[in-house]
Amino acid sequence: MRTVVSTQLQNVEIGQLSEHVGESVNLRGWVETKRGHGKVAFLTVRDGTGIVQGVLVKNAVDDASWAAHGSVTIESLVTMSGEVKAEPRAPGGYEMGVASLRIDALAEPYPIQPKEHGVDFLLDHRHLWLRSSQQRAGLRVRAEVEQAIHDFFYGRDFVRIDSPILTGAIGEHAGTLFETDYFGDRAFLAQTGQLYIEAATPAFRRVYCFGPTFRAEKSKTRRHLTEFWMVEPEMAFADSNDNMRLQEEFVSYIVERALENCRDELAVLERDTSKLELVKPPFPRISYTDAVAQLQAKGAEIAWGQDLGAPDELALMESRELPMFVHDYPKQAKAFYMKENPADPRTVLCDDLLAPEGYGELIGGSQREDDLERLKARIEEEGLPLDAYAWYLDLRRYGTFPHAGFGLGIERTVAWITGRHHIRELIPFPRLMNRLYP
Ligand code: 4AD
Ligand code: MG
Repeated sequence: MRTVVSTQLQNVEIGQLSEHVGESVNLRGWVETKRGHGKVAFLTVRDGTGIVQGVLVKNAVDDASWAAHGSVTIESLVTMSGEVKAEPRAPGGYEMGVASLRIDALAEPYPIQPKEHGVDFLLDHRHLWLRSSQQRAGLRVRAEVEQAIHDFFYGRDFVRIDSPILTGAIGEHAGTLFETDYFGDRAFLAQTGQLYIEAATPAFRRVYCFGPTFRAEKSKTRRHLTEFWMVEPEMAFADSNDNMRLQEEFVSYIVERALENCRDELAVLERDTSKLELVKPPFPRISYTDAVAQLQAKGAEIAWGQDLGAPDELALMESRELPMFVHDYPKQAKAFYMKENPADPRTVLCDDLLAPEGYGELIGGSQREDDLERLKARIEEEGLPLDAYAWYLDLRRYGTFPHAGFGLGIERTVAWITGRHHIRELIPFPRLMNRLYP
C-alpha cells in the first residue's frame, strides 16, 4: 500500500500553513481523528505546531491513498500532500485537499479514547496523555511562564546562578528530606537553592536560581508534588517591603505574558481570563496577626503561633480577586534563616503570597537573618547540625549585609493561571507520593 509522496513538494509545518495557501505541500504528523462519509473522508493531523484537517475525495486520490485512510489508526504517523486552503470553519483555520496519503508508522489501538478516563489511568499513560489538547495547552503556558521568568530577571540585571541539587545542608525543614547515600556520607536532594544563592549575592548583588526542588511531602493534596520547580531571586540591600514589591511586579508580569502570548491555550482550557486581567500591583497586604484575628472572627480554630493551614488560606482569600500577602509570621512557624522582626521579636520579616480562587501559597519570601549570633541560635534551636552550615554562617562573618528574596512555585503558579484544579497536570512528568511511573 505504498503511494508516492512527491519529493518535488516542500515539507511544511502546520503552524506555517498561512504562508502556503494555494500551494501543494507535504506535511507530516500524527492522526488525531478520522471520519468518512462514502466518497469523502476527513483526517485531522497534528504535527506539534498545529492541527489541520485533510479532506480526501475518493475520485480525486489514488486507490492506495484511499485505502490508507481506511486502515489508518489514531496516533499513526502519516505524510499527506495536497493543496492548502484557507477554511475558517476548520480547526486551525486551514484545510488540505489531500492528493496522496501515506502511513509512515501504523499505531496500535490507542489507549486514550475521546471519553472520560480516571485520572490514575491518565497518569499511568502520562507519556501519551501529553499529546492531548488540554495537556498541550497547559504545558505551553508553563513554557511561556518559564520564559517570562527569565526575561523578567534578565531585564532587571539579575544573574542566574545554578544551585546544587545534592547538598549536605538542610534548606528548609528536616521533615521532608529525600536522603541518599553519598559515598558513605549523607546527602539530601535540595529543598531550595536559596542558601547557595545567598552566597552569590555579594558577588553579583542580584541573583536568581531556577530549577527542580524536592520534598518528601506525605500529603496527597492538589497542591503538592514531591518534585517541583522553583524560581528564587535574592537581592542585596533589600528589605521585606522591597521584597514584596518585587513579588507583585513579578507575578503581574508573568500573568500579563501568559495573557499576551497564550490566548489560544487559555481558551482551550476555558480559563476565565477576566480574572487574570485584574492582576496588577499593588496587591493587598495583611499581617499574620491580623489574619489570625480575622479567621478567629469567622469562627476558625486557629491560635496565634500556628501556621496557616490550607482551609485558613481559603477562608482568608474568600471573595478576593487579587493575590494577597500575609506577612510577619511567628518565628516558630517558619524556617530558621528568616530575620527577626525588630518591632515584634516573636515574629519574622517574611511573607507568603496567597493566590485567589483556591490556589493557595504561590510564594514564600523573607528578609534573611544577617546577624551571626542570632542565626546560629536559630540553627541550634531547630536542632540542625551547625557544622553543615559553617559556610552559610561565613556569609555573616565576612561583610554581612541586609538581603531578601523569595521562591515561587512554578506548578502552583501555572495551575492558577490556567485554572486547572490539580498542579500535577502542569508538570510534564509529575512525581507524587505514590507515583514514579512513567
Ligand atoms: O515557602 P517555601 O518552602 O520557600 C522556600 O523554599 C524558600 N527557600 C524560598 C526563598 O525564600 N528563596 O516554598 C516556596 C514555594 C511555595 O510558595 C510553593 O509555591 C512552592 O514553592 N512549593 C511547592 N510546590 C509544589 N509542591 C510542593 N510540595 C511545594 N512546596 C513548596
Ligand atoms: Mg512556604
